[in-house]
Amino acid sequence: MSEAQFSAPDSGAAIVIGASGGIGSALADELENAGQAVVHRLSRSGPIPCDITDPDSIATALDQSLSGPPVTRVFVATGLLHTDGQGPEKTLRHLDADWLASNFAVNAIGPALVLSRLLPLLPRQRRVEVAVLGARVGSISDNRLGGWYGYRASKAALHQIVRTAAIEWARSHPQAVLAALHPGTVHTSLSAPFVRQDNGRHILKPQESAAQLLRVLAGLSPEQSGRIFDWRGVEIHP
Ligand SMILES: NC(=O)c1ccc[n+]([C@@H]2O[C@H](COP(=O)([O-])OP(=O)(O)OC[C@H]3O[C@@H](n4cnc5c(N)ncnc54)[C@H](OP(=O)(O)O)[C@@H]3O)[C@@H](O)[C@H]2O)c1
Repeated sequence: MSEAQFSAPDSGAAIVIGASGGIGSALADELENAGQAVVHRLSRSGPIPCDITDPDSIATALDQSLSGPPVTRVFVATGLLHTDGQGPEKTLRHLDADWLASNFAVNAIGPALVLSRLLPLLPRQRRVEVAVLGARVGSISDNRLGGWYGYRASKAALHQIVRTAAIEWARSHPQAVLAALHPGTVHTSLSAPFVRQDNGRHILKPQESAAQLLRVLAGLSPEQSGRIFDWRGVEIHP
């Protein structure tokens, strides 16, 4: 992987879905600071509304974003770990069908719908970078602690979706790079209830993680599509 500083002095546009989030907003800021000509910030509450659990909302938001300059970068930075008093399950006894379904809707199905909608809209003969934020805990081979059933399983499903989509994209978009990226443990509202238990691990600021993710993605080749990398550029095995 290239160690070059990330810069984006092209005339293309970037799309950040989940731009209201800790990492998503930092990604959008970093892209603008790096010279990306246009940055479309998509979120449930933003100027381009996008609910990742609603296919029509995704389609409308992407069509709106793709009507401007050609898109060169896309980030899916949405995610669900806890909400309204519900959070990751510690044991099988805590499994709840609706909560599991919510995890899959936001963490796996929504990003899959984004990829599906994006494919016909992206340029075929130029480099396009697409990253979906996964999580190390979605690695089945790395699971030594257990727990967090819905989050782990939905992120594992996401990794499989990225892998499968990358194989399909390579046929029609040979210069495209599509990867799942683990942002590290980052100070955001998603991680807030859990970081205190995180003994001694380095907790990143959103801006620090975003800068690294942009650099990692820029350093990937199309041959590395479909794989999972962490914020330092180290590959994570599924
Ligand atoms: N923070 C960490 O330590 C960490 C570690 C590993 C992986 N990750 C992953 O990194 C990604 C970003 O997480 P974060 O830490 O930045 O979390 P965050 O600050 O809580 O942001 C989550 C984002 O997801 C959006 N979202 C949730 N449900 C949505 C829906 N139905 N439709 C549209 N947007 C929705 C939120 O939008 P609203 O503002 O509308 O709620 C928000 O923009 C997630 O995929 C997460 O799993 C984070």
